[in-house]
Amino acid sequence: MGISPWMNKEFAKTSLDKIDTKFKPNTKEQVIYLIEKMQLISTSKILDLGCGAGRHAIEFSKRGLCVTGIDISEVMLEHAKKRATEEQVMVNYIQGNLANLSDLQLQEASYDGAICLCESGVGVMGGENKDYEFFTQVYRLLIPNSYFVLTCFNSLRRYILSKDHNPKFDYLNSTMLWAPPFEYNGEKLNELQRIYAPSEIQLLLRLCGFGDIQVLSCVNGEFSDRRMGIDDIEMLVIAKK
Ligand SMILES: C[S@@+](CC[C@H](N)C(=O)[O-])C[C@H]1O[C@@H](n2cnc3c(N)ncnc32)[C@H](O)[C@@H]1O
Repeated sequence: MGISPWMNKEFAKTSLDKIDTKFKPNTKEQVIYLIEKMQLISTSKILDLGCGAGRHAIEFSKRGLCVTGIDISEVMLEHAKKRATEEQVMVNYIQGNLANLSDLQLQEASYDGAICLCESGVGVMGGENKDYEFFTQVYRLLIPNSYFVLTCFNSLRRYILSKDHNPKFDYLNSTMLWAPPFEYNGEKLNELQRIYAPSEIQLLLRLCGFGDIQVLSCVNGEFSDRRMGIDDIEMLVIAKK
Protein backbone atom coordinates (compact mmCIF):
# COMPACT_ATOMS: atom_id res chain seq x y z
CA MET A 1 0.00 0.00 0.00
CA GLY A 2 1.63 3.24 -1.18
CA ILE A 3 0.91 6.84 -0.29
CA SER A 4 -2.05 8.78 -1.72
CA PRO A 5 -1.71 9.83 -5.40
CA TRP A 6 -2.97 13.24 -4.27
CA MET A 7 0.43 13.86 -2.69
CA ASN A 8 1.83 13.80 -6.23
CA LYS A 9 1.72 17.37 -7.51
CA GLU A 10 1.40 16.38 -11.17
CA PHE A 11 -1.45 13.99 -10.42
CA ALA A 12 -3.24 16.66 -8.35
CA LYS A 13 -2.85 19.35 -11.03
CA THR A 14 -4.11 17.11 -13.85
CA SER A 15 -7.03 15.93 -11.72
CA LEU A 16 -8.00 19.48 -10.78
CA ASP A 17 -8.21 20.43 -14.47
CA LYS A 18 -10.58 17.49 -15.01
CA ILE A 19 -12.73 18.43 -11.98
CA ASP A 20 -12.94 22.04 -13.16
CA THR A 21 -14.09 20.99 -16.61
CA LYS A 22 -16.34 18.07 -15.76
CA PHE A 23 -17.75 18.67 -12.27
CA LYS A 24 -17.35 22.34 -11.29
CA PRO A 25 -20.24 23.57 -13.47
CA ASN A 26 -22.75 21.52 -11.37
CA THR A 27 -21.47 22.74 -8.01
CA LYS A 28 -24.01 25.49 -7.31
CA GLU A 29 -26.96 23.14 -7.99
CA GLN A 30 -25.36 20.44 -5.81
CA VAL A 31 -24.95 22.86 -2.91
CA ILE A 32 -28.54 24.14 -3.18
CA TYR A 33 -29.71 20.49 -3.17
CA LEU A 34 -27.50 19.63 -0.18
CA ILE A 35 -28.62 22.62 1.91
CA GLU A 36 -32.20 21.43 1.59
CA LYS A 37 -31.49 17.72 2.10
CA MET A 38 -29.18 18.32 5.07
CA GLN A 39 -31.60 20.89 6.57
CA LEU A 40 -28.82 23.45 6.85
CA ILE A 41 -29.32 27.14 7.58
CA SER A 42 -27.13 30.18 6.95
CA THR A 43 -25.44 29.86 10.35
CA SER A 44 -24.69 26.12 10.07
CA LYS A 45 -21.18 24.87 10.69
CA ILE A 46 -20.09 22.09 8.34
CA LEU A 47 -17.14 19.94 7.36
CA ASP A 48 -16.05 19.47 3.73
CA LEU A 49 -13.96 16.31 3.93
CA GLY A 50 -11.55 16.01 1.02
CA CYS A 51 -12.51 19.54 -0.04
CA GLY A 52 -10.10 19.69 -2.99
CA ALA A 53 -9.96 23.19 -4.47
CA GLY A 54 -13.00 24.14 -2.39
CA ARG A 55 -15.75 24.26 -5.00
CA HIS A 56 -18.41 23.17 -2.48
CA ALA A 57 -16.83 24.91 0.52
CA ILE A 58 -16.86 28.23 -1.35
CA GLU A 59 -20.48 27.86 -2.51
CA PHE A 60 -21.61 27.04 1.05
CA SER A 61 -19.60 29.99 2.41
CA LYS A 62 -21.24 32.34 -0.09
CA ARG A 63 -24.54 31.40 1.57
CA GLY A 64 -23.20 32.28 5.02
CA LEU A 65 -22.32 28.80 6.30
CA CYS A 66 -19.16 28.33 8.32
CA VAL A 67 -17.07 25.71 6.50
CA THR A 68 -13.98 23.77 7.52
CA GLY A 69 -12.38 22.13 4.49
CA ILE A 70 -9.89 19.33 5.04
CA ASP A 71 -7.65 17.90 2.37
CA ILE A 72 -4.42 15.93 2.15
CA SER A 73 -3.13 17.70 -0.98
CA GLU A 74 -1.00 20.81 -0.75
CA VAL A 75 -1.70 21.63 -4.41
CA MET A 76 -5.48 21.42 -3.99
CA LEU A 77 -5.39 23.55 -0.84
CA GLU A 78 -3.24 26.21 -2.53
CA HIS A 79 -5.93 26.54 -5.21
CA ALA A 80 -8.70 26.40 -2.59
CA LYS A 81 -7.22 29.32 -0.64
CA LYS A 82 -6.63 31.38 -3.79
CA ARG A 83 -10.18 30.76 -5.01
CA ALA A 84 -11.73 31.66 -1.62
CA THR A 85 -9.81 34.97 -1.67
CA GLU A 86 -10.97 35.67 -5.24
CA GLU A 87 -14.58 34.94 -4.27
CA GLN A 88 -14.18 37.02 -1.08
CA VAL A 89 -15.30 34.28 1.29
CA MET A 90 -13.75 32.83 4.44
CA VAL A 91 -13.14 29.08 4.58
CA ASN A 92 -11.13 27.42 7.30
CA TYR A 93 -8.81 25.10 5.34
CA ILE A 94 -6.77 22.44 7.12
CA GLN A 95 -4.23 20.11 5.56
CA GLY A 96 -4.78 16.63 6.95
CA ASN A 97 -5.35 12.98 6.20
CA LEU A 98 -8.94 11.80 6.64
CA ALA A 99 -7.55 8.41 7.63
CA ASN A 100 -6.31 10.13 10.81
CA LEU A 101 -9.15 12.57 11.36
CA SER A 102 -8.86 12.30 15.16
CA ASP A 103 -5.33 13.80 14.94
CA LEU A 104 -6.83 17.12 13.84
CA GLN A 105 -8.47 17.55 17.26
CA LEU A 106 -11.71 18.96 15.91
CA GLN A 107 -14.40 19.60 18.49
CA GLU A 108 -16.66 16.64 19.17
CA ALA A 109 -20.42 16.96 18.42
CA SER A 110 -20.03 20.49 17.08
CA TYR A 111 -20.80 20.26 13.33
CA ASP A 112 -24.25 20.59 11.76
CA GLY A 113 -23.28 18.47 8.76
CA ALA A 114 -20.43 16.86 6.83
CA ILE A 115 -19.83 16.11 3.17
CA CYS A 116 -17.27 13.91 1.45
CA LEU A 117 -17.95 14.24 -2.28
CA CYS A 118 -16.40 13.02 -5.50
CA GLU A 119 -14.23 10.14 -4.24
CA SER A 120 -12.54 12.30 -1.64
CA GLY A 121 -11.48 9.71 0.87
CA VAL A 122 -14.04 6.90 0.97
CA GLY A 123 -12.41 3.78 -0.46
CA VAL A 124 -9.03 5.33 -1.14
CA MET A 125 -7.58 5.21 2.36
CA GLY A 126 -6.71 1.51 2.48
CA GLY A 127 -9.87 -0.57 2.70
CA GLU A 128 -13.09 -0.88 4.65
CA ASN A 129 -11.37 -0.79 8.08
CA LYS A 130 -10.09 2.70 7.31
CA ASP A 131 -13.51 3.77 6.07
CA TYR A 132 -15.06 2.34 9.24
CA GLU A 133 -12.66 4.40 11.38
CA PHE A 134 -13.30 7.48 9.23
CA PHE A 135 -17.11 7.16 9.48
CA THR A 136 -16.79 6.64 13.24
CA GLN A 137 -14.85 9.88 13.55
CA VAL A 138 -17.32 11.79 11.36
CA TYR A 139 -20.17 10.48 13.52
CA ARG A 140 -18.34 11.69 16.64
CA LEU A 141 -17.92 15.21 15.20
CA LEU A 142 -21.56 15.70 14.19
CA ILE A 143 -24.38 17.00 16.36
CA PRO A 144 -27.39 14.66 16.81
CA ASN A 145 -29.92 14.64 13.93
CA SER A 146 -27.43 16.11 11.46
CA TYR A 147 -26.47 14.60 8.11
CA PHE A 148 -23.38 13.10 6.51
CA VAL A 149 -23.42 13.02 2.71
CA LEU A 150 -20.92 11.16 0.56
CA THR A 151 -20.54 10.00 -2.99
CA CYS A 152 -18.68 6.86 -3.97
CA PHE A 153 -18.37 4.41 -6.85
CA ASN A 154 -21.00 1.72 -7.28
CA SER A 155 -19.42 -1.76 -7.34
CA LEU A 156 -22.54 -3.41 -8.83
CA ARG A 157 -21.78 -1.69 -12.11
CA ARG A 158 -18.18 -2.85 -12.01
CA TYR A 159 -19.40 -6.35 -11.27
CA ILE A 160 -21.56 -6.32 -14.38
CA LEU A 161 -18.68 -4.97 -16.45
CA SER A 162 -16.26 -7.53 -14.98
CA LYS A 163 -18.12 -10.32 -16.77
CA ASP A 164 -15.76 -9.36 -19.57
CA HIS A 165 -12.90 -10.14 -17.16
CA ASN A 166 -12.06 -6.50 -16.60
CA PRO A 167 -8.67 -6.93 -14.91
CA LYS A 168 -9.08 -3.62 -13.10
CA PHE A 169 -11.89 -4.92 -10.90
CA ASP A 170 -11.45 -7.68 -8.34
CA TYR A 171 -15.02 -8.74 -7.62
CA LEU A 172 -14.11 -10.98 -4.69
CA ASN A 173 -12.60 -8.09 -2.75
CA SER A 174 -14.54 -5.28 -4.44
CA THR A 175 -11.36 -3.41 -5.22
CA MET A 176 -10.46 -1.52 -8.35
CA LEU A 177 -7.32 -0.09 -9.86
CA TRP A 178 -8.26 3.54 -10.38
CA ALA A 179 -5.08 5.24 -11.52
CA PRO A 180 -1.99 4.12 -13.36
CA PRO A 181 0.73 3.02 -10.97
CA PHE A 182 3.40 5.62 -10.42
CA GLU A 183 6.16 6.60 -8.05
CA TYR A 184 6.82 9.88 -6.29
CA ASN A 185 10.10 10.57 -4.55
CA GLY A 186 10.85 6.87 -4.87
CA GLU A 187 7.59 5.98 -3.10
CA LYS A 188 4.90 3.95 -4.80
CA LEU A 189 1.52 5.65 -4.88
CA ASN A 190 -1.62 3.80 -3.88
CA GLU A 191 -3.71 2.89 -6.91
CA LEU A 192 -6.14 0.54 -5.22
CA GLN A 193 -9.65 1.64 -4.33
CA ARG A 194 -12.23 -0.25 -2.27
CA ILE A 195 -15.58 0.26 -3.92
CA TYR A 196 -18.93 -0.55 -2.41
CA ALA A 197 -22.25 -2.11 -3.23
CA PRO A 198 -25.10 0.07 -1.90
CA SER A 199 -25.90 -2.55 0.77
CA GLU A 200 -22.27 -2.60 1.96
CA ILE A 201 -21.90 1.15 2.36
CA GLN A 202 -25.22 1.24 4.22
CA LEU A 203 -24.07 -1.53 6.55
CA LEU A 204 -20.76 0.20 7.23
CA LEU A 205 -22.51 3.49 8.02
CA ARG A 206 -25.03 1.72 10.27
CA LEU A 207 -22.19 0.00 12.14
CA CYS A 208 -20.79 3.47 12.85
CA GLY A 209 -24.10 4.65 14.28
CA PHE A 210 -25.74 6.34 11.29
CA GLY A 211 -29.39 5.73 10.37
CA ASP A 212 -32.09 6.85 7.90
CA ILE A 213 -29.72 6.07 5.03
CA GLN A 214 -30.68 6.85 1.44
CA VAL A 215 -28.76 5.75 -1.64
CA LEU A 216 -29.60 8.13 -4.47
CA SER A 217 -28.55 8.92 -7.99
CA CYS A 218 -25.82 11.32 -9.03
CA VAL A 219 -25.36 10.69 -12.73
CA ASN A 220 -22.89 13.17 -14.27
CA GLY A 221 -22.65 15.03 -10.98
CA GLU A 222 -26.38 15.76 -10.91
CA PHE A 223 -27.79 15.03 -7.45
CA SER A 224 -31.41 13.90 -7.39
CA ASP A 225 -33.99 12.09 -5.27
CA ARG A 226 -34.11 9.27 -7.82
CA ARG A 227 -32.76 6.05 -6.32
CA MET A 228 -29.43 4.85 -7.61
CA GLY A 229 -29.62 2.83 -10.81
CA ILE A 230 -27.81 -0.51 -10.87
CA ASP A 231 -25.46 0.63 -13.61
CA ASP A 232 -24.83 4.16 -12.33
CA ILE A 233 -21.12 4.90 -11.94
CA GLU A 234 -21.54 6.66 -8.63
CA MET A 235 -24.01 6.83 -5.76
CA LEU A 236 -25.05 9.66 -3.48
CA VAL A 237 -25.41 8.46 0.10
CA ILE A 238 -27.22 10.48 2.73
CA ALA A 239 -26.99 9.31 6.36
CA LYS A 240 -28.36 10.78 9.58
CA LYS A 241 -26.69 10.82 12.98
C1 LIG B 1 -11.58 14.04 -6.88
S1 LIG B 1 -11.04 15.23 -5.72
C2 LIG B 1 -12.56 15.95 -5.24
C3 LIG B 1 -12.40 17.19 -4.43
C4 LIG B 1 -13.69 17.86 -3.98
N1 LIG B 1 -14.40 17.08 -3.00
C5 LIG B 1 -14.58 18.14 -5.16
O1 LIG B 1 -15.66 17.54 -5.25
O2 LIG B 1 -14.19 18.95 -6.00
C6 LIG B 1 -10.60 14.19 -4.36
C7 LIG B 1 -9.97 14.98 -3.19
O3 LIG B 1 -9.86 14.13 -2.07
C8 LIG B 1 -8.64 14.41 -1.41
N2 LIG B 1 -8.25 13.23 -0.63
C9 LIG B 1 -8.08 11.97 -1.11
N3 LIG B 1 -7.70 11.16 -0.11
C10 LIG B 1 -7.64 11.94 1.01
C11 LIG B 1 -7.30 11.67 2.36
N4 LIG B 1 -6.95 10.44 2.77
N5 LIG B 1 -7.33 12.68 3.25
C12 LIG B 1 -7.68 13.94 2.86
N6 LIG B 1 -8.01 14.25 1.59
C13 LIG B 1 -7.99 13.26 0.68
C14 LIG B 1 -7.69 14.70 -2.56
O4 LIG B 1 -6.54 15.39 -2.15
C15 LIG B 1 -8.57 15.50 -3.50
O5 LIG B 1 -8.49 16.88 -3.26
